[in-house]
Amino acid sequence: MRKNNWDRSGLPGWTYQSDSLFQLEAEELFRKHWQFVCHINELNKIGSYKTIEIVNERGFVIKGENNEIRAFHNLCRHRGSRVISDKEGVCKRAIVCPFHGWSYNFDGSVRGVPNKDSFGDTDFSEMGLKPLEIEIWHGLIFVRFKKSNQKSISEILKRFDNEISFYKMEHMQPVDGSIWTDILDANWKSVRDVDNEGYHVRQAHPSLFDLYGQDYNDEPFVEGTSRSIGTFNTKPSKKWSVKRYRHIVENNNWLKLPKLLSRSWIYFGMFPNFVLGLYPECIIYYYEYPLSSTKTIQTGGVLKHKKESREKKIARYLSGRIDRDTAKEDQMLVEWSTEAVKSSAFKGFCLSDLEYGVKTYHDHLRKLIPVMNFNTEPIDHSLNEFNNKLLAENKT
Ligand code: FES
Ligand SMILES: [Fe+2]
Repeated sequence: MRKNNWDRSGLPGWTYQSDSLFQLEAEELFRKHWQFVCHINELNKIGSYKTIEIVNERGFVIKGENNEIRAFHNLCRHRGSRVISDKEGVCKRAIVCPFHGWSYNFDGSVRGVPNKDSFGDTDFSEMGLKPLEIEIWHGLIFVRFKKSNQKSISEILKRFDNEISFYKMEHMQPVDGSIWTDILDANWKSVRDVDNEGYHVRQAHPSLFDLYGQDYNDEPFVEGTSRSIGTFNTKPSKKWSVKRYRHIVENNNWLKLPKLLSRSWIYFGMFPNFVLGLYPECIIYYYEYPLSSTKTIQTGGVLKHKKESREKKIARYLSGRIDRDTAKEDQMLVEWSTEAVKSSAFKGFCLSDLEYGVKTYHDHLRKLIPVMNFNTEPIDHSLNEFNNKLLAENKT
């Protein structure tokens, strides 16, 4: 733990409520960083797809011939309509645009155009769907809307490869009905601020505290990733669901995990917005992205192994109960955090050494978007231009 005089004040209040900054974040963070779409086993058949919508970008992943998974912008090359309108589903034979009926093959190439002769000498071999960058890591599919300096997922998450391999995540599948979505009256960074520290567990999360409150550790955000581990308490738990959960998990080791992992919940974070939780009986994930400077969409889900004993299923049910309570508790704190910065009395945070992860995450943000270093919003300039100038100065 760090015992020095680091700046404990956190990001300035304006960064949680500025519409110009929201635009800059959309560009620099959400378009230029990998975004989670789904698990490979959500795409079961040839033609199965799943869409993603984020900061005015629309994309989808689809399984084509030879089971190859590709990603495209969800944007018809005729007049820009969505070519896929549902969140998920299966395309039969082709992707057909609902506007005028252009159709595309699963590799994105144009398959058919109604009244083709009416397009003069348009070269349709050049009119395929625009591909998106895609990467699959241990069964999780990520896409990126714009190229950037961010490394590949396999490089970013390399330090977790060893631990994750015990869980055989690529063979897991989504739990039916487990995907949840909530809209919060909050800036998306308030979600991260609450999530990036475990100091609040004792007070705000009675069930989590009962599960691993005695031995929880947040490692700081380093190079865009973080790791936290909560090892189950040694003294008996008090709440019946936690007690029952621990009894089952501590008397089983379905995956033959090393002892520490078999009694811990581990969280991996990837900048800017993705978290994976490894539990002995299942894996959970959640992420958020902004709809505006003070509206955020948060979503998540649960992955399980195909074959599950009755006890394992009960354990997953119980951990789900604990997680649902925790998420509700956190969402309230998140909304209060954004509310706070609007108050005339708000003059910044006073972070503890136990909240160092919040600071290191903010440092990462300040590096990519240097205008966040200013105590008040630099409104005399276009925020975008000013930020580019600061970035250029930082390079020289
Ligand atoms: S916009 Fe898709 S066919 Fe016209
Ligand atoms: Fe929390």
